[in-house]
Amino acid sequence: MAGSVITFYSYKGGVGRSFALTNVGTLLARWGFKVLCIDFDLEAPGLAQFFGSVPQTPDAAEWLLEAPGLVEMVEAFKGDPWIPLDWQSYVRRLDAPGLGGIALMKAGRTDATYHRRLQQLSWPSLYQAGLGSQLERMFDELREEFDYVLIDARTGVTDFSGIITAQLPDVLAFLFTANEQSLDGSMHVARRAAEARNGLALDRSRLLLLPIPARFETQVEHRIALLWRERFVSELAEFYAGWAGPNDFIPKLVQATTIPYVPYWSFGERLSVVEDESSDPLGINFTLETLAALLAHRLGQTGLLLDSRDDFVAAAKRLARHGGAARRSVFLSYDHANTFAAEGLREALEKRGTPVFMDRHDIPSGAHFEAKLDAAIEASDHMLVLVGDRTRERRGQTADIRKFLRQAASDVRPRFVVPVLLEGTPPSAIPDVLRQYRTIELGIDFDGAARELAELLQPRLAETPFKVKRKCYLSFSYIHDLWRVQQIRNMGSVETQPILGHGSWETVRRGGDAAIAELIAENMRSKECLVVLVGAETTRRKWATYEIERAWREGLGVLAIHVHKLRDREGRQTRKGADPFEGLLVDGSPVVGRVYDPPFDDSRTVYEHIRKNIEGWISEAVAARQ
Ligand SMILES: Nc1ncnc2c1ncn2[C@@H]1O[C@H](COP(=O)(O)OP(=O)(O)O)[C@@H](O)[C@H]1O
Ligand SMILES: [Mg+2]
Repeated sequence: MAGSVITFYSYKGGVGRSFALTNVGTLLARWGFKVLCIDFDLEAPGLAQFFGSVPQTPDAAEWLLEAPGLVEMVEAFKGDPWIPLDWQSYVRRLDAPGLGGIALMKAGRTDATYHRRLQQLSWPSLYQAGLGSQLERMFDELREEFDYVLIDARTGVTDFSGIITAQLPDVLAFLFTANEQSLDGSMHVARRAAEARNGLALDRSRLLLLPIPARFETQVEHRIALLWRERFVSELAEFYAGWAGPNDFIPKLVQATTIPYVPYWSFGERLSVVEDESSDPLGINFTLETLAALLAHRLGQTGLLLDSRDDFVAAAKRLARHGGAARRSVFLSYDHANTFAAEGLREALEKRGTPVFMDRHDIPSGAHFEAKLDAAIEASDHMLVLVGDRTRERRGQTADIRKFLRQAASDVRPRFVVPVLLEGTPPSAIPDVLRQYRTIELGIDFDGAARELAELLQPRLAETPFKVKRKCYLSFSYIHDLWRVQQIRNMGSVETQPILGHGSWETVRRGGDAAIAELIAENMRSKECLVVLVGAETTRRKWATYEIERAWREGLGVLAIHVHKLRDREGRQTRKGADPFEGLLVDGSPVVGRVYDPPFDDSRTVYEHIRKNIEGWISEAVAARQ
């Protein structure tokens, strides 16, 4: 997956831009992303000072002080404009503890001649000589090499900054303090960048804008702080459009992304996330973590952020460890009575290139077993559960499965759990939590089973960086079509309401109609489109009708897709259901929604057809209501 470029911009200096960038970058690197920071604030470079505040090896300390950087790279270009920028010579990975191996490109060798040399660079003529396209090529290479490239952008509004604020980044994060000039200046530049980007003939997707209120004082002047916060909310609304979700999310997002002023960190350039490992809600690291997680989620999952900020951060960390990995790993859950079968399956899977976690191989004796196991569950993409006669009685195993399912529900990457039924074990042995999942059977043909599993677990994530997913509410019949619905969710191009497990659903149902209606309202609140997944029994069901009516009243786009030809966990297709919109009136007028019936019979072809078209269908349905 190609990496992303995030520009941190501020109109004025001293707002904490370099502080935010270096700390957020360090968190992302520690979570497992490959991160590069580039100091493009050539007039007032600061990144090297922040990284220099933690104990470095003598070699790295010297590099931070003396090494050349961007300015020298540009000087080299000036000498030989046709030679590709040799960025590797100016980038170094920092291996000091706590930095996660973050890499840096300095602004330059800040010796006595630095400012004079900087002034001698005439940016317009460098551009004439082709520096712009050389930089573009460099960033294409950086995207290959890194998951995140964070640019500390120079202040001031020059022609040169256009490439850094508008042309190159996926996200323009702009910081400002509670101050007229700072806010107005930043908003002006952000607006210009967005306009410039839309005017550029690039096939790169839209520029996303992330406002970050910084150095925000709440401890002393409570009342004035509130007024400023309200002002941020009303003036910044336009920048949240397109990624934040519904308008009533904005005040909460502003709050969640405001970096507080903490006097302790105002002395010198220091990394708060390294010096202070804690992250309590009142401290500065709390917001820095939220910001890092927001980037890791590619500004998605805002619903989850506002629901549970901690789950949001935890899910971001899991993404980091595995987001870019081509090989999907599995956690093998088994009972020690079935070690023989577990070993056979593990060997067959590893032969096919799938890394398998198995406690007796992967936890060294003497290690803290529980902690290692938890870490492995988090890190694994999928879980296989070997089901034998006694599995239902194994408390520990059931707890592991629940842990995995809870995480999978809030993760963006597809994570599957597959019950693997041992030969001669009746399906009734499958623990209740796993009832709804497609099962495979394991005989003595371990290779055959591994092949079947590999197919089932294939990653189907649409891996386009920073493409905003459409936010959809799925309407469907839980008991009849859950497996079909999960296939649609795993296509990865839509963000949906969380699908409750059987147990949680029962809990809601016990609350009666009011509780169900409330859950539907809550889940629909942040959505732009209702997608009815029509199986044999969907249409005319009480809650399906309720959902359509509600979505229609709320102004959501509506559409329906016939999914009866997708196979369920038993491999069965079903019969075609009725048109859910036919004859449906809301306040006297008809509900108008398109109904798609993929013109194929084979489950796989139907799946591909929906995968290719669903985004287009949704866009059309949403546009029809505007
Ligand atoms: N939220 C904050 N609370 C307290 N001090 C901060 C905060 N953000 C930044 N600082 C401090 O303010 C100074 C300037 O920050 P810096 O990030 O270098 O500014 P900029 O890059 O915007 O010019 C640094 O000493 C930094 O540690
Ligand atoms: Mg700075």
